[in-house]
Amino acid sequence: MGFLLADDPVDSLDAWLATDVGGLGVARAQELGPEATIALVEAAGLRGRGGAGFPTGRKWAGIAAQRDAVRYVVANGAEGEPGTFKDRALMRANPYQIVEGVIIASFALGAREAFICVKERFERERAGLVRAVQEMQAAGICADCRLTVVAGPDEYLFGEEKAMLEVIEGNDPLPRWLPPYIHGLYAGEPQLGWQAHTGGSGANPTLVNNVETLSNVPHIVARGAEWFRGRGTAQSPGTVVATVVGDVRAPGVAEVELGTSLRAVIHQVGGGMRPGRTVKAVFPGVANPVVTAGDLDVPVSYEGFEAIGSGIGSAGFIVYDDGTCMVDAAYRFSRFLSIESCGQCPPCKLGSSAITEHLERIELGSGTADDLQAIVGWLARVTDGNRCFLGVEEQQLVTSVLRAFESEFLEHLAAGRCPRPRRLPIPKLLDLDAGTATYDERFWHKRPDWSYGA
Ligand SMILES: Cc1cc2nc3c(=O)[nH]c(=O)nc-3n(C[C@H](O)[C@H](O)[C@H](O)COP(=O)(O)O)c2cc1C
Ligand code: SF4
Repeated sequence: MGFLLADDPVDSLDAWLATDVGGLGVARAQELGPEATIALVEAAGLRGRGGAGFPTGRKWAGIAAQRDAVRYVVANGAEGEPGTFKDRALMRANPYQIVEGVIIASFALGAREAFICVKERFERERAGLVRAVQEMQAAGICADCRLTVVAGPDEYLFGEEKAMLEVIEGNDPLPRWLPPYIHGLYAGEPQLGWQAHTGGSGANPTLVNNVETLSNVPHIVARGAEWFRGRGTAQSPGTVVATVVGDVRAPGVAEVELGTSLRAVIHQVGGGMRPGRTVKAVFPGVANPVVTAGDLDVPVSYEGFEAIGSGIGSAGFIVYDDGTCMVDAAYRFSRFLSIESCGQCPPCKLGSSAITEHLERIELGSGTADDLQAIVGWLARVTDGNRCFLGVEEQQLVTSVLRAFESEFLEHLAAGRCPRPRRLPIPKLLDLDAGTATYDERFWHKRPDWSYGA
């Protein structure tokens, strides 16, 4: 059923060219020309797999329509969100289809240069990508394209597209103000307010796509839009590479058809719940509201999750069972976001840190109704004037847990202790293989200034 995650890893250019897609995507794009290639991606209905589900063809068309002569393409393989391992699974399984997707995107947009960004820590995945680029250049598949694999920092914000451009330019992962299609790579400073305009070249509109999004591209271009629409739903065509971790039997990552129910995904990808346990809550990463046990039959599709007031994000599902304390879950996710917040926007760093402190007090049993009120107050302001979406993630996640599990907060206040004590791990994944997930335990020692304690 799947086509992105091959059963046997594609670990040489010969193996990729031996498939019925390898090399044919680029050849077909060259036959069609840039405009028709973009139209084909639009017709296929591919949506971005980096979290927001933005239509990929529309994004490409918007950048191609800008008059600026200098354009860039960036493949986002930073994968820093807890509960997600699908990009590394794709890089391990087949780096060639990613590189071919990047080459097609660069051709369609007339890009000067392309960058594939991964964390420095992803050594194995990085080596595979570097080899794939070298082999494809040597074979003449991208003989004249400039393509660089960039090794970035461990921070969650590295994956944010405006921060990613800063990293490519040699800076820290701090999001700039304007999106990449307005303020692209190596562009002159845009005129903002009264700040002196340093002038410089144009906007250099830059395309940022997730590596899973780009992995779909050679298949679509080689096989056509109708073929792609043969799977999934009308609004969410294709497949998605889902990660399932947490209180499941065998944490895993696998390709599923979009529209499959969340219940089935938990079963197919994570092996179902541990004996005697039931699902209490599912977090689609840290960027969307929590899904509760009553909604497990929701289809894993953009419109399905929207209908229940959530979002599939990057299809990384963190499953918690009936023994979980939801105040503790809210506290730990809030802590992750507050630590990773860069502080360029005071409401985001101050608000998420304050919310985290109040949640901790409630969880530890010393909280009062004032703590709850303070949380609600900060939730209304934590997004004020923000440069990026992280503050909204904090707002959406904590608000959703407060709404769905209010009684657990009141229980903590009344009892003066946690009724379900159990140390919940933050599933920031270092590895996921053969049913075993390895979490980054060091994260618990990360401080708000991004240094590490003992
Ligand atoms: C805090 C934060 C972290 C993000 N991390 C990632 C990431 O690791 N990988 C990714 O593809 N997108 C990430 N995104 C989304 C990107 O900014 C961007 O929307 C995405 O790469 C676009 O690709 P797509 O259109 O193919 O989905 C993040 C966004 C935010 C706000
Ligand atoms: S919203 Fe938060 S994480 Fe994003 S730039 Fe502002 S302070 Fe940094």
